[in-house]
Amino acid sequence: MSSKTTTLPLLLSTLLFLIQLNVSAGQAAVKGAYWYWDSGLPASSIDSTLFTHLFCAFADLNADTYQVTVSSSNQAQFSSFTQTVQQNNPSVKTLLSIGGGGGAALADTFAAMASQPDRRKSFIDSSISLARSYNFHGLDIDWEYPSTTTHMTNFGTLVTELRAAVANESQTSGNTALLLTAAVHRSADYYTINYPFESISNSLDWINVMAYDFYGSAWESSRANTGPPAALYNATASQINGNAGITSWIGAGVAANKIVLGLPFYGYAWRLVNADDHGLFAPADGPANAGTDGSMVYHQIRDFISQNAAETVYNATVVTNYCYSGTTWIGYDDTESISAKVSYAKEEALLGYFAWQVSGDDSNWALSQTGW
Ligand SMILES: *[C@@H]1O[C@H](CO)[C@@H](O)[C@H](O)[C@H]1NC(C)=O
Ligand SMILES: *[C@@H]1O[C@H](CO)[C@@H](O)[C@H](O)[C@H]1NC(C)=O
Ligand SMILES: *[C@@H]1O[C@H](CO)[C@@H](O)[C@H](O)[C@H]1NC(C)=O
Repeated sequence: MSSKTTTLPLLLSTLLFLIQLNVSAGQAAVKGAYWYWDSGLPASSIDSTLFTHLFCAFADLNADTYQVTVSSSNQAQFSSFTQTVQQNNPSVKTLLSIGGGGGAALADTFAAMASQPDRRKSFIDSSISLARSYNFHGLDIDWEYPSTTTHMTNFGTLVTELRAAVANESQTSGNTALLLTAAVHRSADYYTINYPFESISNSLDWINVMAYDFYGSAWESSRANTGPPAALYNATASQINGNAGITSWIGAGVAANKIVLGLPFYGYAWRLVNADDHGLFAPADGPANAGTDGSMVYHQIRDFISQNAAETVYNATVVTNYCYSGTTWIGYDDTESISAKVSYAKEEALLGYFAWQVSGDDSNWALSQTGW
């Protein structure tokens, strides 16, 4: 057979196959970012053309009523968030993110809320009505973290009930169902306590895997040596890295196309013990600026590099960037690391990637544009 006679059917079947793929995936690739109300970046300044989904962070959880609320000082910017970011990109979708890394008290409130049916109902009803009245396209649960087997079971019940309520609301209102996502730990367990994989798979559109904060300069566990804060591959035998976490989620049975990889738009600065010993895991003495948590956002790191003519290194083996000048050493993700992680997400057929958080990027959106 000549190639000419086979070309057309081949093209057609390829096209049909691609259409099927797209339908079965259900959800197109996610290029997401969180926006945080206190970051200093007005929502109107986000280049929303670079994203498919933007997460508005954070709505609060009332510790007495278990209702989801937005503080009065945030109401104006949260209620106009969707309209604001859609001005430059009418197809960008928005999700109201609930909770966040607010510490032990917030985590306790989540646990108390999820433990009883009437409290879960308060959470579910109030979050759906808030999302609709502010024109969000979805809800994102940031419970950091469910940390006992009971918490995990209740988290599963919560997302199952939330999905049922969202489906019911969509049917009654005639509106497209709200998207449902959750920000989860880097791995499928929280220090050996497994997430409720089946409920997550059945009830959430996807999970945002927080594949960062593996090493930090202010933490007891990692202040004595520099470290790659969000390495993709193992830098030590500890196996704390993005790939190990993603692999654990897939191994637990959560489909790759429900997994979105987190990218940090920030890093951590250590103080080197010896300015001449400046590699990965070099001896250090806590954060470079005493009294801080050592974190610096990407544009601050770029400013530090240019102001101090710092040396910059990309380590492609573990996938991290770092820079140093004098006794200051900063581990972070620059365009090389972000690009390698985006390629990884595509190779692993993940649903996409998200950034925490968009205001960390530089004035040229260098990270947000990389590999997107
Ligand atoms: C479904 O939605 C309707 C209208 O909002 C409400 O009255 C009803 O209780 C809901 N049912 C369930 C099972 O959530
Ligand atoms: C990258 O980091 C690893 C882990 O510390 C190290 O073994 C390797 O030599 C580094 N590679 C380069 C090119 O510096
Ligand atoms: C790093 O991970 C790879 C693959 O998971 C493994 O083969 C290797 O032994 C690990 N290296 C260290 C130092 O743990």
